[in-house]
Amino acid sequence: MEDLALIDKDISSDETDWNEHRSAWSLPEGVTYLNHGSFGPAPNVVIAARQRWFAELERQPMDFLARRLEPLLDEAAGVLARFVGCTADDLVFVPNATTGINIVARSVDLAAGDEILLTDHEYGAVTRIWGQACSQVGAKTVMARLPLPLTSEADVVEAIFARANDRTRLIVVSHIASYTSVVLPVAAICQRAKTLGIPVCVDGPHALVQAPLNLRELGCDYYAASCHKWLCGPIGSGFLYVRGRNKSKMRPAVISWGRSFAGRPASWKDEFIWVGTGDPSSYLAVADAVRFIESVGVEEFRSRTHALAQSARNRIADIARSELFTPDDPAWYGSMVTIPLPHVARSSSWPGESHPLQRALWEEHQIETPIFEWQDRLCLRVSCHLYNSPADIDRLCAALEQLCPRFAVE
Ligand SMILES: Cc1ncc(COP(=O)(O)O)c(C=O)c1O
Repeated sequence: MEDLALIDKDISSDETDWNEHRSAWSLPEGVTYLNHGSFGPAPNVVIAARQRWFAELERQPMDFLARRLEPLLDEAAGVLARFVGCTADDLVFVPNATTGINIVARSVDLAAGDEILLTDHEYGAVTRIWGQACSQVGAKTVMARLPLPLTSEADVVEAIFARANDRTRLIVVSHIASYTSVVLPVAAICQRAKTLGIPVCVDGPHALVQAPLNLRELGCDYYAASCHKWLCGPIGSGFLYVRGRNKSKMRPAVISWGRSFAGRPASWKDEFIWVGTGDPSSYLAVADAVRFIESVGVEEFRSRTHALAQSARNRIADIARSELFTPDDPAWYGSMVTIPLPHVARSSSWPGESHPLQRALWEEHQIETPIFEWQDRLCLRVSCHLYNSPADIDRLCAALEQLCPRFAVE
């Protein structure tokens, strides 16, 4: 598995040092935000950049949309592409990972009897997208159950390929899983899939910044991600990467003109650049998000946020008497951790009414952190970004110590 190249960060160091980056955000006073993994607030520079682009668009829409937009998108795509290790021609902006996966599902040729292989750690909406794509043509999804706890990369790869066969048309796998927060061995999965001639679609919204990513080296066929999570892009920014010859087969989720407004030579990206009149400001501000993260440094990001996640994981596991999904190793988790709550009564669904413990954390302590069920377990997930500090983890732990007994299993 890839080395996350972490520099040890001392969790007991001065709180002022931990608050160094917090002023880059305008988080409401008194709110402990530990849910970047669901919806990440953008830093002020990114919000400002988006507002500037939006103001320019509204001032002279004809000039902006018909003449300036395509080169501006190329420039923003170039900055993002350098960050994720591909070229600007390899990726298109989409509003979010969900749209990216929908595009892939429309573009992969499926016939009756075909299979799409997923793992049991996949995001519910993604599993649903593939379920619908399959049911329309008489194909089916196949779910590989990964061994728990996850301790060996080889075992994970084995569990997936044990379910592959000559009907498998595509493997769909998260780079970092939403429910369990585990980093899956996507490079090894892509390598093995290549030997069998099976394409791989990586669902990657949590991996941008949290994990090293070089799309050219990874060797996946498709990679869908949201920039509005860890990269700190504005809400409504994501991308879809498509490798090599697959590009010419891509079908848009929304059909429009399918050609350049500025009269440029035809490209596979034409179907995705113009999807009807809209607001591209969030895409253009992705370049500012990349520059923001780079100004802090990705190693600094990983070192800080992993140290916080590690502290949260170990302390909450003690409070909740949990068995964790992975060893305490940065190869298995980054800035986000999921901790099962075996002694808290279950009654939760996502999306749906939130668990009473999640409501109490918010209503009584102004702590944002999701609680959900995964495979018959109630789980809590903690996301740590640059604006978080050990004091946030202290507040969460104190609140859990107080609240867990109230919601305990009878
Ligand atoms: C693994 C995974 N895939 C896809 C998505 C969908 O992301 P979005 O809502 O930005 O489309 C999420 C959202 O949390 C996710 O965790």
